[in-house]
Amino acid sequence: MAIRNLRYEGDEILKKKSREVEVIDDKLQILIDDMIETMHKYNGVGLAAVQVGILKRLIVIDIYDDNGPIVLINPVILKTKGEQEVDEGCLSFPNEFAKVIRPEEVVAEYIDREGKKMRVKAKELLAQAICHEVDHLNGEVFIDKIIPGTLEYIEPDKDK
Ligand code: NI
Repeated sequence: MAIRNLRYEGDEILKKKSREVEVIDDKLQILIDDMIETMHKYNGVGLAAVQVGILKRLIVIDIYDDNGPIVLINPVILKTKGEQEVDEGCLSFPNEFAKVIRPEEVVAEYIDREGKKMRVKAKELLAQAICHEVDHLNGEVFIDKIIPGTLEYIEPDKDK
């Protein structure tokens, strides 16, 4: 496994739409493992392939619960319910945090890394993470949908 280079704010690739994954091969499995390792290294809750420069509809999410990291290939949000006002950041926008309105619940379909069709009903942080990462696949970034006036720059704790 390896840490991949992240793409940051200002990189045009972050505005591009990612393409469907057509084959789940060894190369994709390596990418998945690398994305999980990269997300963990930077203490992220989620990472989309575009953030490591690959325009594939692939995201990894880890909300640090008992389920461990989840891998969503070609995810589609089928339904959303309610609203939640949440604090949000993004590994491509280091040190920038803001409030965003996200659905409270989402139902999403995706393919897992074994190629199995899956469906998840997600709430709260998981719902937020799925929405944030699916936005990346569509070339959208959280900074464009923040509640005006809520953007904060927070320097990381150097001791961490
Ligand atoms: Ni992000």
